[in-house]
Amino acid sequence: MKFQLANGFLVYGQTGEGIPLLLIHGYPLSKKMWDPQVLFLADIATVITLDLRGHGESYPFEGTYSMDLLADDCYTLLNGLKITQPVLICGLSMGGYITFALYRKHPDLFAGMILTSTRAAPDSPEGKANRNAGIRNVRELGMRSIAEGMLPKVLSPISLSSKPSLVDAIMAIMLETSVNGVAGALQGMRDRPDSTPMLSQITCPTLIIHGADDQLIPVSEAKTMASHIKSSSLVVIPQAGHLVNLEQPELYNQAVRDFIKPLSHA
Ligand code: MLT
Repeated sequence: MKFQLANGFLVYGQTGEGIPLLLIHGYPLSKKMWDPQVLFLADIATVITLDLRGHGESYPFEGTYSMDLLADDCYTLLNGLKITQPVLICGLSMGGYITFALYRKHPDLFAGMILTSTRAAPDSPEGKANRNAGIRNVRELGMRSIAEGMLPKVLSPISLSSKPSLVDAIMAIMLETSVNGVAGALQGMRDRPDSTPMLSQITCPTLIIHGADDQLIPVSEAKTMASHIKSSSLVVIPQAGHLVNLEQPELYNQAVRDFIKPLSHA
């Protein structure tokens, strides 16, 4: 379904019944990365997914996609869908950075938070330089060069060698991301603030899920978040990398379900 914004649109999905659960995808992916979660959770939650601007089928806006701007898109969508009760917000990686931005602006929006494969820390100087190289590359060489560079890093070695259809599906999702989407997201992630100081101020129930073999964001980052967020629990999933929800969907879904169940009856 399309949701109109000034000068463009977002594409989103909504399915199921119960407490609203917004799933925010990572970079350079789309709402398709949540397919294994959407159906499994639809009996206990109203599951909302969106293609962030420039990703999937959403409009390829030009410019920097600051985490605040992407958080505003999510908030505008929820408002447009007339969702007024507190929401569970689940973000993977860049989706986690957006979740932090949303919490900074609208803490009362949150019934709970699920931080998947993400970190609170900002980019290092080397990380920022890599973002700048990525921006140059996507403009000069196109999306395929970005996708080919990312693909080996987003999965664990075991998934890469044993799940060829998953590898192909992720490649296809990445190739749908627009050049503007890649450049905009890389600029926004490069410039994002340090969310570490706010961790101790998070008061909503929080689930942190991380793949034990994440090559992009080490599991130590998840442990740091868990040690600072008072109301949190940490689940580390074996034989899974950055895209833990796709690599171990049963274990991921069960952890999310166990977290949601008591909140959906609150
Ligand atoms: C993502 O998966 O969203 C990105 O890899 C996050 C990042 O590059 O920091």
